[in-house]
Amino acid sequence: MKPVEIAKNIHWVGALDWNVRDFHGYTTYKGTTYNAYLVRDEKIALFDTVKEPFKDDLVQNIRQVLGSPKIDYIIVNHVEPDHSSSLPALMDVVKPEKIFCTSMGKNTLLEHYHREDWPYEVVKHGQTIRLGQRTVKFIETRMLHWPDAMFSYLEEDRLLISSDAFGQHWCTSERFDDEVDPSELMKHASKYFANILLLYAPLVKKLFEAVGKMGLEIKTIAPDHGLIWRSDPAKILRAYGTWSDQKPKQKALVIYDTMWHSTEKMAHAIGGGLAEEKVSVQLLDLKSNHRSDVMTEVLDAGALIFGSATLNNGMLPKMADMLHYLRGLRPQNKIGAAFGSYGWSGEAVNLINQAMEEMKIKVVDPGMKIKHFPTDKDLGTCEELGRKIGKALKEKASP
Ligand code: FEO
Repeated sequence: MKPVEIAKNIHWVGALDWNVRDFHGYTTYKGTTYNAYLVRDEKIALFDTVKEPFKDDLVQNIRQVLGSPKIDYIIVNHVEPDHSSSLPALMDVVKPEKIFCTSMGKNTLLEHYHREDWPYEVVKHGQTIRLGQRTVKFIETRMLHWPDAMFSYLEEDRLLISSDAFGQHWCTSERFDDEVDPSELMKHASKYFANILLLYAPLVKKLFEAVGKMGLEIKTIAPDHGLIWRSDPAKILRAYGTWSDQKPKQKALVIYDTMWHSTEKMAHAIGGGLAEEKVSVQLLDLKSNHRSDVMTEVLDAGALIFGSATLNNGMLPKMADMLHYLRGLRPQNKIGAAFGSYGWSGEAVNLINQAMEEMKIKVVDPGMKIKHFPTDKDLGTCEELGRKIGKALKEKASP
């Protein structure tokens, strides 16, 4: 895709990746974009690069804007290879005067590319540089979501180049928030937050406080993935505030995998009991729902009810995968329960309970095991379990 001018003399020069479907465990079923931004001033500056297979797109876009790939400064807001793996090839072409990055950014670049000879210029939180007419302020965002990360704020343009934050894995020919369906945009943004940033939610809140004290006026937010927020940047800032709070809603997820449909029948009965309590319920069979889509629903859910049959003295593999993924992202403020069918040993429910305790999910019932196939009476007990969780959820969560 050709360069797009996002503000006077500031161009998007990134790349579109329509076909990527996995981003370290997150399903990117609508692809993604790698956004890089080129600023023309007395000094020409490039903010971030793109994933290595797309380096030619980047160089071509830079040539289209500048006529030649002459760049004075490269700003590395984040070293993860989707934003920096074009750097070695680009360095040979453009030979910039300086590479600006945080101290952790310099270490991480050295650990990735082993190039001591590059012209690193380490910057600190709050430091500014002049490009000519423009001032760039650097804002360290350590652990959002790598230790090296920072934002770059272009003061005169009131433009925040925000690295991964506020991004979405969504490949579109459009570049701006007001050019796409807003509800789909927010869905992709929430999936991104739930799967990439949730673990660091407390840091997001601290960052907001720190940035608030800096008094930055923000007209546009340009993330490194997806659409640029120009029509209402406050909308995504508010959403990040809400998602970081992790206040549970009266929303329950029955997440399960089943072997011969017994656990599935239990899931439906538990879901029925929850619905009787007038809480919002979703049944998510892990054979049909990817872990990262489940994670998006976890973001504002108040109750997580996990079901698995027992297989070889353990839980089914998709449930183990889901719990492992969830544990890494550390959701807060949830209640939970476990259920599942078994043939002779029945460890799955106990193992799920153990996993929930490790994640500090409040287990509101010891869990329900059914041998082989549930009777109508068993399913009635499952409904009762659903009602019990529904009542507990209504005490804890907002509608
Ligand atoms: Fe888009 Fe943390 O990389």
